[in-house]
Amino acid sequence: MGIDPRAVSGFSSVAHAYERGRPSYSDAAIARLVDGLDLTADSSVLDLAAGTGQLSRLLRGRVGCVVAVEPMSAMRSRMRASLPDVTVLDGTAEDIPLADREVDAVVVGEAFHWFETTTATQEIARVLKRSGGIALLWNTPTWTVESHPWLDALRRRLAPHKRAAGAYPAGEGSWQTAFARTGLFEPLQHVEALHEQTLGRNDFLAQIASWSWMANLGFDQRQAALDDIDVLVRGHESIAIPYRTDLHLARRRTTQR
Ligand SMILES: C[S@@+](CC[C@H](N)C(=O)[O-])C[C@H]1O[C@@H](n2cnc3c(N)ncnc32)[C@H](O)[C@@H]1O
Repeated sequence: MGIDPRAVSGFSSVAHAYERGRPSYSDAAIARLVDGLDLTADSSVLDLAAGTGQLSRLLRGRVGCVVAVEPMSAMRSRMRASLPDVTVLDGTAEDIPLADREVDAVVVGEAFHWFETTTATQEIARVLKRSGGIALLWNTPTWTVESHPWLDALRRRLAPHKRAAGAYPAGEGSWQTAFARTGLFEPLQHVEALHEQTLGRNDFLAQIASWSWMANLGFDQRQAALDDIDVLVRGHESIAIPYRTDLHLARRRTTQR
């Protein structure tokens, strides 16, 4: 199976909006990742499905070298321009362009739900050194209507588009079962950490435009939704979004079952 067609169309043209609007990750989660996988200035890390380099940016100063793999050329170009010390390669999770046992860790931010879980898990295990490990991260907004009074209206306006996009290839937690079934990794450890992103109104709109299911709408439909959200948040020139970063860590099994 190749890359999901909704990911191809949804991420091919949003690199600018992505860089502008998407959140980074909690410092505490990154510290826990580095610590939990014993990464040092000698370690090599693969940022898989790297987007415009959100995780590469946080890890490059803390480890020996970062290699990024990303299938969308516009995302790769952005990353190369802003992170010249990161090697950026074209590739997918199901066919990683690295040799066997090449890296100490593979990190995946906001993307594992797009992968064909079994094939990607096998590929990740293949490129990891014997004692290597994986880190999977997701950000979930923890905002409420009390903190963001326009949130219900925003959800009502966008929910039909999100529903119509359908489930992710490995969404709704089903990836955990398929991941465990490969027997290639020790049990996953889950860590949660909180952080906050503060955005200008136009950057907030860029974040919404960068969501794949928004990018996949026809131009008129997308613009109408963005115009409505613009009206909803008018008067809020600075928008703070609280997030929970979920970090899942696991070591590669040294003896395969
Ligand atoms: C939501 S973005 C995450 C980007 C970045 N890692 C971050 O932390 O924000 C998802 C990324 O996954 C990539 N992607 C989707 N399916 C993929 C696959 N099968 N293999 C590798 N990358 C994939 C997309 O091109 C996109 O850049």
